[in-house]
Amino acid sequence: MVSSDPVVVVEALKRRYGDRAESLKGWEELLSKLFDQKGNPIPTLTRSIQVEDVRLSWLTEEMVYIGIGVYPGEVDYLLIPKNPTEFFQRKFAELGHEEPRLLSSLVELEEELLESTENPVMRMKGYVVSSTLLPRDVIHDVVSHPNFRKQEKEWREMGLSYNSLNDSPLPLDTSYFDDLLELKKVEVDGILIKGDSYLSLKWLLNVGESDVKLTYIDPPFNKERERDFSYSVKYTNHIWLTMLENRISLAKRLLREDGVFFVRCDHDGNMLVRMLMDRVFGEDKFRNEIDIKRNQSLPKTSLRRLTEETENLLVYGMDEFKFKRMFVPRNPSWVDLGTRPSEGERGKPIRINGVEFYPPEKRRWAYSEDKVRELHSKGLVREVRGKLKILLDKRAVGTNWTDIPGYSTNPRWGLKTENSEVLLKRVIESSSDLGQKVMDFFLGSGTTVAVAHKMGRKWIGVELGDHFSSVVMRRMKMVLAGEKGGISKEQGWKGGGAFKYVHVSWNYPKE
Ligand SMILES: C[S@@+](CC[C@H](N)C(=O)[O-])C[C@H]1O[C@@H](n2cnc3c(N)ncnc32)[C@H](O)[C@@H]1O
Repeated sequence: MVSSDPVVVVEALKRRYGDRAESLKGWEELLSKLFDQKGNPIPTLTRSIQVEDVRLSWLTEEMVYIGIGVYPGEVDYLLIPKNPTEFFQRKFAELGHEEPRLLSSLVELEEELLESTENPVMRMKGYVVSSTLLPRDVIHDVVSHPNFRKQEKEWREMGLSYNSLNDSPLPLDTSYFDDLLELKKVEVDGILIKGDSYLSLKWLLNVGESDVKLTYIDPPFNKERERDFSYSVKYTNHIWLTMLENRISLAKRLLREDGVFFVRCDHDGNMLVRMLMDRVFGEDKFRNEIDIKRNQSLPKTSLRRLTEETENLLVYGMDEFKFKRMFVPRNPSWVDLGTRPSEGERGKPIRINGVEFYPPEKRRWAYSEDKVRELHSKGLVREVRGKLKILLDKRAVGTNWTDIPGYSTNPRWGLKTENSEVLLKRVIESSSDLGQKVMDFFLGSGTTVAVAHKMGRKWIGVELGDHFSSVVMRRMKMVLAGEKGGISKEQGWKGGGAFKYVHVSWNYPKE
């Protein structure tokens, strides 16, 4: 039986329950067998996922993982049993103790914690609105507002200059203009949420949010202890799976009937995530595993393993989901016109300019005669030494996406795991239309929402880390101002639009 240092546990429980921890006085020894040094109940790995003969223990379905903060080298989280009575009764039975008074105090405290995760509170923070969306009289009110200088200072710090607010899309933050109600009446393209993703998803569900067409997540990976990120990745598999399961189950409920869910993972996580996703979505919802490119790292000094060059996107689609057909250019070459097996004898000939071209024995042409004639008239089909040839200058996109960078080759927003905008463009293009809603609840530097905005999608983004303000908010303000990096050039992005930003947290201790 695991046992923690009672003094450390008591301190940790004071952080967990506040003044209410008083009710646990006198039980220190026993508590150190029930809770770990962080004050989280010590789980028993009773649950498992099994696929054929592979069996993995985990605790997902009995705990809620709430992220408290993501700091360099550390992550703070709470694990709360979903059924405190059952959980602690089992723990006491395992310890061979019967302590009805302690049991009822713990159950009461945990139920209160649990309840506060059910109804998270939202604190409205504000709107960011492009100046070009506003009529002249409102712009006049903005410019003559006592706080306009503060707004100008922010723009200068962001390197934004302008001649006229009506001509250049400049991001106006209502934190400077709280009393200008007209700014809050514009239709927004997206919502940025600062907070833990579980609480934020709960809140979104509680306020009736729905209709998400595409969710893309790039969660912290499970085994990156050695890497230098601005947030912690010291997860054990079971806690990592708990965190993912809790969130993916909620996010699934926000998806449309033709919605799709992309999860980015690497070789350490893909097997676990595949099993987890099969369990949450159902095996029949699995669509593809896509190979994406990892940045070139230095060659390994030991040859025990080859250098990892790829990561994966696991894609799960709801019943009505269909990918869009996508093509990329390839080196042009003339190849034999395609054929397919023919049930009977050789298929019918195609006549071009009075000449008949027969497919090989037991084959039929893959294209109709009309289609081939059309391609011929456009110069895309020709006859070479008695054979029909077709010009191939593009390739249909399949599951190999290593032709584009998976990470930003030159991260501009201060996070090493910044995904490349071209990757997100392909994800969004493959699975959504203009105006549809895209969501990411592990935003990092905000690539998903930046790209979604530039591509005319609606969006929802969630980030817990302190870089929410310094990175994500700043990046989205720059995007509204017509930021030129990433996919801006190919999208013809000139700026504009508006978004709302809120903070979501739990209501504990109750207000
Ligand atoms: C791998 S990064 C995402 C990188 C992102 N795709 C990009 O392009 O920049 C994962 C992010 O998840 C955030 N995160 C970790 N736990 C979280 C939680 N419980 N709720 C919300 N965000 C969380 C981390 O702070 C980090 O920024």
